[in-house]
Amino acid sequence: MYFLAIETSCDETAAAVFTEEPRILANVIASQTDLHARFGGVVPEVAARAHLQRLLPVIDEALAKAQIKLDQIGCVAVLNTPGLVGALLVGVSDAKTLALALEVPLVSANHIDAHIYACRLAAGKDIFPCVGLVISGGHTSVFHCRSALDFALLGATTDDAAGEAFDKVANILGLGFPGGPAVERAAHSGNPGAYRFPRSFLKEDRLDFSFSGLKTAVLYAVHGQGATSGGVLTATKAADLAASFQQAVVDVLVTKAKQALEQTRLKRLAVGGGVIANRTLRQALEKLAQENGFELFIPTTALCTDNAAMAAIAVEKFRLKQWAPLDLDAIPAYQTS
Ligand code: KG4
Ligand code: ZN
Repeated sequence: MYFLAIETSCDETAAAVFTEEPRILANVIASQTDLHARFGGVVPEVAARAHLQRLLPVIDEALAKAQIKLDQIGCVAVLNTPGLVGALLVGVSDAKTLALALEVPLVSANHIDAHIYACRLAAGKDIFPCVGLVISGGHTSVFHCRSALDFALLGATTDDAAGEAFDKVANILGLGFPGGPAVERAAHSGNPGAYRFPRSFLKEDRLDFSFSGLKTAVLYAVHGQGATSGGVLTATKAADLAASFQQAVVDVLVTKAKQALEQTRLKRLAVGGGVIANRTLRQALEKLAQENGFELFIPTTALCTDNAAMAAIAVEKFRLKQWAPLDLDAIPAYQTS
């Protein structure tokens, strides 16, 4: 039994083939970074048009890599929420058409839940129940994951997502797009103690996040309070700012993960989303896990950022015969499943 999965929520056109185990046979991602770089961020219309051009070749490549033919597919899965509506529509329309033509079930899944399921894939064993933390470009959310399909939201960002803050700070520091890896590179030679940036809600029990004030603090450290341009930014200063900013984000995420584990009394933490590709964050969470005796699940780098393999969460729905209707919609806003 083979599954074909599609992901087009933002700026990665992705298709994957997996078995019911689930075992990944192919995971193909066509990144659009080159198309959006000159705009300094993802342009929704450009993303949707690029998905249209690239999705079918990406699906062909996934099938070729998995060494199977289209008519061997027994189920089509699609991540239909949340994301950019035009981008999502391309994947959803394609998935519906394929399911109809192949006369196989269609299964839809939530992109955020799938980011946590990437930990299950990487672990190769059951990871539930666990605390699930999703840190991506659009979301920073913490869940009590009772099972693969039963997530209760414990807290989320009240403004910017962690990845969004990385992207905006990269912009402020003139480090380019995408921001996360650029800030991480710059931070490597910087001093994380050079600037004392704010860490929101750190001393409160609530499991919410706020990264907007932190981003503004970096802006003021560069240009001076109240100004939006001017000021000289040397490479050393940029490195110190990047390192101090990164440390503030890491401190907040580590503290909130610890609080969530304490409040739920769970002994497993699964972390997904692009920001967990960050090595300083990975190391800090690994240290926390060792000191506090809980199991930490982090996906391999290829499964951290957007991909279609994480749509293997659809296998769990398939087993319960939770098919999606052929009038399935693309839903841009996040809704708890
Ligand atoms: O999960 P993802 O690929 O897409 C969304 O669903 O949003 O996450 C993308 C985000 C971007 O904001 C990017 O800057 C950030 O993940 N990111 C990183 C790193 N690699 C990607 N942030 C910090 N350090 C990194 N190494
Ligand atoms: Zn994502």
